[in-house]
Amino acid sequence: MLIIKTIAALHQHLAAYKRPALVPTMGHLHAGHLALVQAARPLCDVLVVSIFVNRLQFLPHEDFDTYPRTLDADCAALAGTGCDVVFAPLESEIYPERQVFTVQPPPELADILEGHFRPGFFVGVATVVQKLFGCVQPHVVVLGQKDYQQLMVVRRMVQQFAQPIDVVGVATLRAPDGLALSSRNAYLTADQRTQAVHLAMTLQSMVQALRNGVTDIATIEANAASALNARSWQTDYLTVRRRSDLMQPAASEVTALRDNGGLVVLGAARLGSTRLIDNLEV
Ligand code: PAF
Repeated sequence: MLIIKTIAALHQHLAAYKRPALVPTMGHLHAGHLALVQAARPLCDVLVVSIFVNRLQFLPHEDFDTYPRTLDADCAALAGTGCDVVFAPLESEIYPERQVFTVQPPPELADILEGHFRPGFFVGVATVVQKLFGCVQPHVVVLGQKDYQQLMVVRRMVQQFAQPIDVVGVATLRAPDGLALSSRNAYLTADQRTQAVHLAMTLQSMVQALRNGVTDIATIEANAASALNARSWQTDYLTVRRRSDLMQPAASEVTALRDNGGLVVLGAARLGSTRLIDNLEV
């Protein structure tokens, strides 16, 4: 496994291959990332995992400075997984000057949910992913479904720019208690870690309400938020959306969408200063 830090060296190395795959990450890898690598391996002739904490997708008050940077441990975790290249550029390599060309995803997709609570987040994500595409020129990109909206933004971007890249989403990996694996779980205190499973449990209760035939989405969402907030969480959103476009379904379409696998419940909430997200398809 090679560790490459510059775009020029990466281009030179990848020139010998026909079908590169990219697994973009911000590092502090866990088993969820390794599942992405495992999914990518059979789809390519060279597998690149990028590790880059992308300043553009953090708001000023967010955790850019404290985001765990654990390159040595990440490389150790990737050794033997089938990863061929770790692309770990410095910030000055990716952003040698202020990034003035950016990718602006459509507001109806990028300014809702995560984008509402983290304005500009998807501009930052789409811009760096586009730039990583330029670095790797992948035929396949593999992303986790935990970042559901991000996956959708990347899919739409690839489709709209007619890029010959397959976008593959991999199911969320969970701890035995059901907590979705996330690099940010590392911020949780022991006490918060025991509370953390309640985000997934609340999403499950929303799914159950839908399966029980409840079609009043506002009630499902309000009950979920008050149940989670009663457990020392602060909810940003707990919501039922259409899978196709992440818009709210009308009451009249809830049952048909539910029966055809057309719904997803998504949540974001804070435990202390740690913000976690999760989702479940219905
Ligand atoms: O999901 C992530 O880790 C990041 O948003 C990504 C896709 C690597 C872009 O920085």
